[in-house]
Amino acid sequence: MITASHLTKIYTQPDGKQFAALNDVSFHIGRSEVVSIIGPSGAGKSTLLRTLNLLDPPTSGQILVDGQDTQAPDYPLHLLRKRMGMVFSQFNLFPRLSVLENVALAPCKVLGMPKQQAEELAMEMLDKVSLGEKAQAMPSTLSSGQQQRTAIARCLAMRPEIILFDEPLSALDPTMVGEVQSVIRNLAREGMTMLIVTHNMKFAHDIATRTFFLRGGELVEDNTPVILFNTPQHPETLAFVQQIRQLAFDIESRHFDFYDMMSQIRKFCIRYDITEKMNNILHIAEEMLLLMSDSRTPIHIAINHSELSTDTTVDILHKGVTVSPLERPGVDELAVMIIRGMSHGIQTETTDEGIRLTFAI
Ligand SMILES: Nc1ncnc2c1ncn2[C@@H]1O[C@H](COP(=O)(O)OP(=O)(O)O)[C@@H](O)[C@H]1O
Ligand SMILES: [Mg+2]
Repeated sequence: MITASHLTKIYTQPDGKQFAALNDVSFHIGRSEVVSIIGPSGAGKSTLLRTLNLLDPPTSGQILVDGQDTQAPDYPLHLLRKRMGMVFSQFNLFPRLSVLENVALAPCKVLGMPKQQAEELAMEMLDKVSLGEKAQAMPSTLSSGQQQRTAIARCLAMRPEIILFDEPLSALDPTMVGEVQSVIRNLAREGMTMLIVTHNMKFAHDIATRTFFLRGGELVEDNTPVILFNTPQHPETLAFVQQIRQLAFDIESRHFDFYDMMSQIRKFCIRYDITEKMNNILHIAEEMLLLMSDSRTPIHIAINHSELSTDTTVDILHKGVTVSPLERPGVDELAVMIIRGMSHGIQTETTDEGIRLTFAI
């Protein structure tokens, strides 16, 4: 369906230097394929999507859609835009139009559809994303998940053959990630061809028939998600997908900003989509710090999360002590019970530096 050959996109930076946001990228995507695109920030993921629908044409290289060269002078560009829908992180709904009007607008204005017909179509698309009930609502009254589903309905109303998603989950309230994922999953089931840029590794793994790993403008690996996430062919891919995310703090004095630490832990959980573990992590950190609060010795605390295995641990190193803070004489037994209940398992290790406790969450 789409064949990209040797796509390169050069940007000229403010200092006049040339910079390849995409470097010799080639692939073929067949109908009904779902491709998840992962890679570090700045890898060229958004550039790839913008280049494909010619919002930002490539500097060199070719894009064939159903065998036709999209850069040929007589290629009907407006048709390409109609065939390739785009959904962004930011929903970009028109605030003064109702949900229904937002969805009906493009069929009316771009396709010249009579208003009533466009509204019937819009209603059908809203039902598809389970928002029929909200047709008359104004966007500002909707949750972030409902707004993103409206944006998807608006895209569907143009009857696209391909949808390009650029981080569709990243501006959502964490509790609403699931509903948007379900809508995208339903589209996949119906055979929609989709390219989905996402930082959510589990989603990238589960939704796709193929995964691209981009880095530094290059398509480093194009593989099935099972291979790419488990036994990738390139060491760079392995390093990226296995990356353990870590948030660490050194508590060296009583002047430590405890509240800021808690906020950072919350942000970390939201960022890596582990909000269901957030309360346990926060409680363990809080209760443990209370148990150790009479001690003057430094404490190192780290939250580790593997995006690949979805395992999360809280690692607490109590420096300069030889007895676990959970086993000290006179310890608050109730606090210890609470802490044990918050974890799947606790490992205690005596190190040269002190006692290290690892809580599996
Ligand atoms: N319009 C532009 N002008 C100059 N540089 C750009 C432009 N768009 C993107 N870039 C640069 O291209 C690189 C890739 O950007 P982008 O595709 O947005 O990355 P990603 O989506 O993977 O985070 C980045 O270094 C970015 O700064
Ligand atoms: Mg991007």
